[in-house]
Amino acid sequence: MSILLVLGTRPQIIKSAPIFHEGLRQGLELGIVHTGQHYDYRLSQVFLEEFSLSDPIINLSVGSGSHASQTAEIMLGLEKYLIESKPSMVVVPGDTNSALAAALAPVKLGIPVAHVEAGARCYDMRMAEEINRRLIDHCSEILFPVTDSCKENLKKESVLGEIHMTGDTMYDAFLTFKGRVGACDILSRLELTDKEYALLTLHRAENVDDPMKLKNIINGIQEAGINVLFPIHPRTKKRLEEQNISLDGSTVKTIEPVDYIEMLKLLKHTKMVLTDSGGVQKEAFWSKTPCITIRERTEWTETIEMGVNLLTETDPKTITQTIKYVEENHSEIKNRFKINPFGDGRASERIIEILKQRL
Ligand code: UD1
Ligand code: UDP
Repeated sequence: MSILLVLGTRPQIIKSAPIFHEGLRQGLELGIVHTGQHYDYRLSQVFLEEFSLSDPIINLSVGSGSHASQTAEIMLGLEKYLIESKPSMVVVPGDTNSALAAALAPVKLGIPVAHVEAGARCYDMRMAEEINRRLIDHCSEILFPVTDSCKENLKKESVLGEIHMTGDTMYDAFLTFKGRVGACDILSRLELTDKEYALLTLHRAENVDDPMKLKNIINGIQEAGINVLFPIHPRTKKRLEEQNISLDGSTVKTIEPVDYIEMLKLLKHTKMVLTDSGGVQKEAFWSKTPCITIRERTEWTETIEMGVNLLTETDPKTITQTIKYVEENHSEIKNRFKINPFGDGRASERIIEILKQRL
């Protein structure tokens, strides 16, 4: 095998799929290893099926654990596989613990690493993902930033690898699936009306593992009085249960995590997105849907500068006020959407062209 893609979580499957299919189209020999960081059907297998990814060669089945144990177990399992299979290059998307381990294990065996979504920075080292991204970027031989600001961040840090601006493979995926959204019946199944609900996703450890913050976020959203649909991440579900926070009968309706097409449909028809996700901020932008990001900082600064993505602190009052502001200024915010800073939907093509030259 020449190129090994390593993935382990929901967003990594989505970021990898366009690269895998483009690689096959261009005749490359590609393999996939799944670390097993995400293992619930609705966080993993559903996306492997939806994106027609071949069964991963192996699933390291590391599951959940502390940062150290999860990262170390992936490194150990992957090292063994790399020694046996000797790929020419390892491709790592994103900034999860799976991504960090998948960069460290090969580089120490002398196998070059290519980082997809390189240079994303929010300059908040309290976030595990910010630590992971920095380490991955500094041990990668090839870096694929998705926006100009990501590219500038890499230059400022004087990374040693080659930088190739490609655009975002998530946008490639978005464009590929956009046309299939019409047939999805999730709105009627959930009795939702166009622009009469807000879509919420919440899973960042800094938000949901802090009981006070979690309560504040939920209170702030409920206080705004809008109907909210909340496909709930298992980490968050667990934390709400631990804190005895029940959303039953409230304005916030929880459902199991949805699949990708359902998510695109919900993003298109929602009045606004409330999120702390990295990927969902970008998809809200591509759906031309106003977004409120429940974080102090974001790596997708261009969307903030345009005024279509608003950062909010986690105190309930600010959250309520920001939701009300977006409700009241919805049409004006819709007019603020400008040029897409995340590329042209051909990121995977460029990535494969560059990788081919290196094999
Ligand atoms: C991870 C990534 C995060 C990414 C997110 C995408 C890290 C440090 N975090 O966060 O960057 O944005 O994936 O969704 O790599 N759990 C299940 N079933 C699963 C997976 C997890 O129930 O299939 C529960 C477990 O209780 C687990 C918790 O969720 O302890 C957290 O899972 P973990 O993979 O550690 O982090 P995520 O919050 O999913
Ligand atoms: N997503 C999905 N179903 C959901 C929630 C998210 O398909 O119920 C998709 C979303 O559209 C995006 C990706 O998962 O493509 C984002 O993953 P997540 O928010 O878990 O991680 P992050 O992007 O923050 O790393």
